[in-house]
Formats: sequence, structure tokens, C-alpha cells
Amino acid sequence: MKSKIAHWFYTWKHPVTAAALENLKAASRAAARALGESGTPSPYTLYSTNLDVRIRQRGAFEPALRLTGILHGQPVEVSLHQHGASGLIGPFARARKAARKQRVSKENAILFWSGQSQDGGKVLKASIGEKGQARETRMLKALAGLDGMVPALLAHDSALRWIVMEKIDTASSLPADRQAECYVSQIAPRYFTFWGCKAKPARLCLGEKSTFPEMEKEARYLGLSLPHGWQDGRLDCSITHGGGICEEILLRSDGRACLLDWEKAALAPIAEDLLQVFEYAPEDTLALFASLNPPGALAPQVQLAVALALRSRYNRRKGRPIPARARSDARCAGLLRSR
Ligand SMILES: Nc1ncnc2c1ncn2[C@@H]1O[C@H](COP(=O)(O)OP(=O)(O)OP(=O)(O)O)[C@@H](O)[C@H]1O
Ligand SMILES: [Mg+2]
Repeated sequence: MKSKIAHWFYTWKHPVTAAALENLKAASRAAARALGESGTPSPYTLYSTNLDVRIRQRGAFEPALRLTGILHGQPVEVSLHQHGASGLIGPFARARKAARKQRVSKENAILFWSGQSQDGGKVLKASIGEKGQARETRMLKALAGLDGMVPALLAHDSALRWIVMEKIDTASSLPADRQAECYVSQIAPRYFTFWGCKAKPARLCLGEKSTFPEMEKEARYLGLSLPHGWQDGRLDCSITHGGGICEEILLRSDGRACLLDWEKAALAPIAEDLLQVFEYAPEDTLALFASLNPPGALAPQVQLAVALALRSRYNRRKGRPIPARARSDARCAGLLRSR
């Protein structure tokens, strides 16, 4: 085994994992070929930071980024087939972090560029870990007809390792409460009408995720009580987004909202998604939930409380909850208590 000093020096000289580099190069080449944009590749430099790895055109002048190389590793040269691009690779591409973890299951590289013609910018999202883009590819295809609700899928890998999608151009990023508003008013009504919702027995939906007494205990911890017999009730289920809804919405210049990152889409209780926006827009979320709730399902407030008990239990499972998540759970509980 290498000494610690030798390991430190090796990972400084090779700060990006070999697998990440190979996967990025392969995706870049294949995506360019699929778009008919291949040709001579352009030179890029990868800069490791404490958070991720930045992809910049070689020679781009960003002194702060160059400085981080002294701490986090030597810049890495790479040739990519997209021209005039910039982007980043997630944290598990950093050799120093990956060295602590043997296998990287999920991680992506994201590359933005403007393409050759007038048809706007493009985004390459490529897997550099083991998991591919299967769900996202399927969801972008399925939702393509919903008037810009998701980015247009421009090309994808038959092995589902990468996708190229339309780049959504926005003037500024929206705060979480504005994203919640966009979701409730623009996205969710059309989205759930598209899939439909079905009331499924709570026992079936929750499966082994949590035992019922433990969920009741968690609800009590949050100052909530689940009504008698809730376990025999039904929860409204559909295909959920499953990710951070209030962090993944971009507003197009024509005002249409677009929801990104469908990697965690799943058949699940819709309360899991709606709870995220309930925190910022409680009244509108409850009104939307009531309009979707099929006959025979538990009341929206109860479904949200069940989803919250599940989420809070998950957030606290390691005994050291992330403060922002704990605050968010407490805020939702407060809003539910007052209803
Ligand atoms: N089509 C797009 N148009 C514009 N920006 C995009 C697009 N796709 C992704 N982005 C930007 O890149 C970021 C990361 O994209 P995405 O969430 O899909 O990747 P990810 O690997 O899941 O990242 P994370 O783990 O941070 O969620 C988005 O939050 C958004 O800012
Ligand atoms: Mg994301």
C-alpha cells in the first residue's frame, strides 16, 4: 500500500479519477457524433475545487480557479468535441474524494455550449459513475409534448449514459418560494393531468420504507398526530419528480417554467413532491392537492403529514441531521399543525 505522502502526491498530480475522464471523453465524442458536430476536438482544462471539478476552455483566465489547483490538485488537460463550452463534474470525480469511496455509483458531468447555428444553447449531461441517465431520458421523452415543461431532448445514448438537451436561458435564478409558486401554478396541474393520480393503499405505497409505529412516533416528534386508522387509508400516487423541486425550476424568457433533473422520478405518493412546495406556498398547494385527490384517498393534510413523517425519519436516521433539512421539516410541521 502507498504511504500517505505518496498517496497525497499521486492524487494531487491526478486529481480527477481516470474513470471520470474516460467517461467524459467518450460521452463528448459520441454526443458530438450524434449531433453531427464532430471534427477536431477543442482543448480544455479541468480544475479541481473543494466542491467539484470545473471544465474550462484552455487558456481561459480565471485566477481564483487556477489558484485552487495549488490546493486541490494539478489542472488536467483534456480534449472535448464541443466548442466554446464550459461546465463541471460532480464531486465524486475528484480523485481525493473518490479514494475514500471505492465505487462511484451516481455522478454527472454537465457541459454547456452554444452550438453552431441559431438553435440556442445545448447541455450535455453525462454519467461518469456507474448509474446512467435511464430515468431522465425516459422522462424527457415522455414529457416532451408538454409545452416546454422540460428541456427538449436533442440526442441521447442508446446505452443511456448521456443526454444532450436544450439549454434553458434565464436572466437570473429564482428563489425557492418563486420556484414553488411556478411549480404549483404552471407545472403540477398539467403534469398530474398528464399522468393521472391513483389512490393506493398506504400499506402498499409505503412498503418497507418505514414501519407504521415508527412513523407515528416521528409524527409525534414533529408535534403532529396521524388520525386513527390512517394505515388503512389510501395515498394519492403518480410518477413523482423525487428531486429538489424548489432548486430545479428555471423560468424561460417567455415566462414558461421548466423543471430539470428527472433522475429520481418514481411511482410514489404525490405528497412527497407536494410537501416540498407546501413549505413555501401552503394554501395553493392544499388547493391543488384537493383538486387532484381522487375519491377514497386520505385528506391532503394527512397525506402531507405521512410524507413529512417519512422524510423527517429519513433525515434524522444518522443521528446528525443536516440543519437546513431539519429546519425545513420543522417549518412544514408548523404549517400542518395550524391546519
Ligand atoms: N437544460 C438546462 N438548461 C440550463 N441549465 C441547466 C440545464 N440542465 C442543467 N442545468 C444547470 O445545471 C445544474 C445541474 O443540472 P442537474 O440538476 O440536471 O444535474 P445533477 O448532476 O443532478 O446536479 P445536482 O446533483 O447538483 O442536482 C442545474 O441545477 C442547472 O442550473
Ligand atoms: Mg440537480
